Amino acid sequence: MSKTKVLTGITTTGTPHLGNYVGAIKPAIEQSWRDDIQSYYFLADYHALIKGRDPKRIHQSGLEIAATWLALGLDTDRVTFYRQSDVPEIMELNWIIGCMTAKGLMNRAHAYKAAVQANEEAGEKDPDKAVTMGLFCYPVLMAADILMFNAHKVPVGRDQVQHLEMARDIAGRMNHHYKTKFILPEAIVGENTAVLNGLDGRKMSKSYDNTIPLFCTEKKLLKLIRKIKTNSLEPGQPKDPDGCTLFQIFSAFANEAEIAEKRKQYEAGAGWGDLKNQLFEYVNAQLADARERYNTLIEDPAFIEAELKKGAEKARAEATPFIANIRKAVGISPFA
Ligand code: TRP
Repeated sequence: MSKTKVLTGITTTGTPHLGNYVGAIKPAIEQSWRDDIQSYYFLADYHALIKGRDPKRIHQSGLEIAATWLALGLDTDRVTFYRQSDVPEIMELNWIIGCMTAKGLMNRAHAYKAAVQANEEAGEKDPDKAVTMGLFCYPVLMAADILMFNAHKVPVGRDQVQHLEMARDIAGRMNHHYKTKFILPEAIVGENTAVLNGLDGRKMSKSYDNTIPLFCTEKKLLKLIRKIKTNSLEPGQPKDPDGCTLFQIFSAFANEAEIAEKRKQYEAGAGWGDLKNQLFEYVNAQLADARERYNTLIEDPAFIEAELKKGAEKARAEATPFIANIRKAVGISPFA
């Protein structure tokens, strides 16, 4: 049976939060147990340089994200779990496919367009002010990540769908011109996976600074849950669970019966204070074991490093012969 290859990366710029867990990491780990799927999960550390220039932060973020995957039970014998920068073949492919990528295609990338638009709105003379080549070429590097392992499916957030279309475009051009056999990858946007709201009710995201770190201390977790924005309805007044951030977070962790029960509590007029305490108890109980493993792992970077080295070896066992073929296809190979 040929397996479906599923690949995804997380940029190492922040500390994993509840939204990352529910929307990306948890479904990815569940999927990794399926026998018909071969998974590739990686730390996109070269991508991090596009967004951040604080070396300590990027280094620490990589450690935290790796520890998170491992603490949540990722089985590194089943999946290929690696750090992008440990697989230099990705960078070689990045250049090769970059030479097949139309600049006009990159002009249309929304991250770049958003930067240009912000400059125009600010009345800047240069629409490309503060735009680096890293930002501009970022969809090429992402395509290299994906095409390197011939992934069929790429779980991503909605904002990344355009990058998958670009990866398909690039793969198609390579195949057409050089007769390579790159798989055209497809985005999977989890229709059933929740997108969590953050403390202020907007989407939970490090760019809004409204996140709840996945493995913060119990005390901090309680404090942050108490900070979640609610309305001014008093205890005893019926409340609408739909659109309530507390209810939404609860629903991402609970089963159907528990969700129905919680809905009744809202309708019966439970107070915000009680609802918050209950949410804390519930989420905390589910995270407690993993948090303990996380804290142990963070204290043992050598163990994490060994796991990543093992992953890099596995990844390179595929990448090295693969890039040799690609180089040959484009005319770069030994003379004798
Ligand atoms: N760009 C992705 C994000 O910001 C992260 C990423 C980098 C990625 N390379 C990838 C995701 C390859 C999927 C496949 O979320």
